[in-house]
Amino acid sequence: MEIELIDIDEDIGEVGKILNEQNKRRGILIHALQKIQEEHRYLPEDELKKLSQKLGISLAEIYGVASFYKLFYFTPRGKKIVRVCLGTACYVRGSKKILDALEEKFGIKSGETTKDLALTLETVGCLGCCGLAPVSTVDEEITGEIGEKKLEELIRLISSTEEESTEKE
Ligand code: FES
Repeated sequence: MEIELIDIDEDIGEVGKILNEQNKRRGILIHALQKIQEEHRYLPEDELKKLSQKLGISLAEIYGVASFYKLFYFTPRGKKIVRVCLGTACYVRGSKKILDALEEKFGIKSGETTKDLALTLETVGCLGCCGLAPVSTVDEEITGEIGEKKLEELIRLISSTEEESTEKE
């Protein structure tokens, strides 16, 4: 996001007419944070400093707002986000073993990102498809009923490069 190009009055739109200057700036903040994260997959400090200057909002306040929302990240994230469901239905059907296998295979723990930024591994409470337990996702793709064979497929899917994934489509 070109932070320098933010036009507070233009970007806030019609609603800006009823807001004072400070609230206009705050109104832009979340949108700007989302744009920065879309671009970098997290919120780099340099970008937040620029945003702080542009909007006249202290860096501490920006961090305060961003850390309130779970969707913002402060450390680099992997190109692929792999989530293993540890909700009850998945857990009783062995999802912890899936997590253990992925942690061992990729050399990271849940919540970590590989050094090459290829992969971030996370756990979730429930993905809302308990009938398919145990469930895991790679970005938006869901894999359910993961047994040994599907675990191998899942690992292949996680290991595949972007080019390989595009070729399959
Ligand atoms: S518990 Fe895993 S999808 Fe609901």
